[in-house]
Formats: sequence, C-alpha cells, structure tokens
Amino acid sequence: MVVRRAPELWWAALTVAAAAALYAWLAHAPQTAPGAVIGHSLGIAGFVLMLFTEIGYSLRKRSRRARWGPMKSWLRVHIYTGIVGPALILLHTSWNFSGLAGWTAIAVAVVVTSGFIGRYLYTAIPRTVAGDELSPTELAGLLRDIDARLAEAELPEAERLELTAARAHLQKRVKRVPRMRRLLALWHTVHVPLGVAMFTLAFTHVAIAIWFSAGVR
Ligand code: HEM
Ligand code: HEM
Repeated sequence: MVVRRAPELWWAALTVAAAAALYAWLAHAPQTAPGAVIGHSLGIAGFVLMLFTEIGYSLRKRSRRARWGPMKSWLRVHIYTGIVGPALILLHTSWNFSGLAGWTAIAVAVVVTSGFIGRYLYTAIPRTVAGDELSPTELAGLLRDIDARLAEAELPEAERLELTAARAHLQKRVKRVPRMRRLLALWHTVHVPLGVAMFTLAFTHVAIAIWFSAGVR
C-alpha cells in the first residue's frame, strides 16, 4: 500500500498555532524576552526538540530492530518535532535576529526549508506502510493488480474511473523514481552538513548564553 496522508503536518500546524496563540496572549509580559523565564524556556524546549529531531530518526534508521517501531512513524515524529522545535525557537528570539544568535536562527530556517524539500523527494518515491521503498517488481505487481481489477466485467463505473486515475498516477510516479532517488541522495549530502553547521552555531550561542547568565564572565 502506498503512503499518502500527512497527519504529522496537521498536528505540527495545530501545535504551532496553539503555541503562537498562547504566546500572543502572553506577549505583553516582560518574561517573553529571550533571556527571561518564558523566552528562555521556549529556547530550551525548542532546542531539545531539535536535538531529538537530529538524533532520533538517524539512530532508528541505523538500527535493524523492528521493536523500535516502524520507520514511517519515526519520520513522522522527526517532521513533527522538526517543525514544532524551530517554531518554539522563533518565539524564543522575540523577533531579534542580530549577531551570532540571529545567524543561528537563519540557519534553523534553512534546515527546516531543506527538510520540506527532502520530504517532497522522499514521498515522491512509492513506499510501503513501513516506509520501505517499493521494488520495481512490487511496483509492477501493483500495476498488474489494478489491471486485473479493471478487466473485471461487472466493475462499477465509479470504481473504474477511480482505478484508472490511480493507475495513471502510479505510473507517473514510477517513471520519476530513478530521478527522485538521485535527487534524494544529492539532498542528503547537502541537508546533513547544513544540520551540522546549524548545531555548531546553536551550541556556540547556548555556550555564550550560559557563560553570561551563570555570571562566569
Ligand atoms: C537553535 C536554537 C536557538 C536559536 C536559533 C536562538 C536564537 C536566539 C536569538 C535570535 C536571540 C536574540 C538575540 C538578541 O537578543 O540579541 C536569542 C537570545 C537568547 N538566547 Fe537563544 N537561541 C537558541 C537556543 C537557546 C537556548 C537552548 C538557550 C538556553 C540555554 C538560549 C538562551 C538565550 C538567551 C539567554 C538569550 C538572551 C541573550 C541576551 O538577552 O543578550 N537560546 N537566542
Ligand atoms: C530541526 C530541524 C531538522 C533537523 C535538525 C533535521 C535533520 C535531519 C537529518 C540529520 C536527517 C538525515 C537522517 C539520516 O539519514 O540519518 C534528516 C532526514 C530527513 N528529514 Fe530532517 N531535519 C529537520 C527538519 C525536517 C523537516 C521540517 C522535515 C519535513 C518537513 C524533514 C524531513 C526529512 C526527511 C524526509 C528526511 C529523509 C529521510 C530519509 O531519507 O530516510 N526534516 N533530517
């Protein structure tokens, strides 16, 4: 079965809207400044979610243990935390993008944008419910199943139309698989270093923030 729905995007949009509404309600409070209690907590929460985004999916991808849950669910969580974490960071900034911290925020935006491009390429390749790429044999089997169903004499017209459209859609996707696979590989080589650069900036910003707030200076 081919994966189509994207509940993680809806959940992320809902969570971000709820956080933004709560923030708008609190916005007049002085504690929303990046170094004050609310702003600071948003920075820490967003940073933890981003760290999980970076590490969780990569670890699962390299683990062969099925009991860790299906890859598809991990990617959904990756995308959810990869949107919600940066959104909390945006609220943490108080819309001040100056200096190193400002460059860090820009790097976060670049990584998230890159994530959306990756998601487009990733979902362009037909996959099983578990998130594994369908092999050419499996794809040919799917097309054969549809053809067999279409060949049935007593097939209702509505279903025939639906299946014909589904077949055309699947065939179009199958044709694009080699190009999408190449683009996804290329995307990986860009996205991963972008993430490393972003975390280098983020850790530097956090180290400076701790240095100053702990009064070590
Ligand atoms: C990727 C993660 C983060 C980004 C992109 C980010 C970005 C920013 C930005 C744009 C500002 C405003 C700069 C200014 O006021 O001049 C700021 C301020 C601040 N951030 Fe972060 N931040 C992140 C994570 C964190 C974390 C995890 C902490 C806590 C340990 C933190 C602590 C602070 C503090 C204390 C300030 C206030 C600095 C001041 O008022 O001079 N940030 N951050
Ligand atoms: C804080 C933000 C994010 C970080 C740090 C991050 C980091 C990463 C890393 C390190 C990988 C490579 C995993 C691996 O192959 O081991 C990856 C893959 C991926 N990410 Fe993100 N990501 C972020 C946000 C997003 C967002 C917002 C989306 C989608 C809207 C997304 C979609 C993807 C996809 C589709 C893959 C490829 C999955 C695969 O080929 O197995 N990411 N991400």
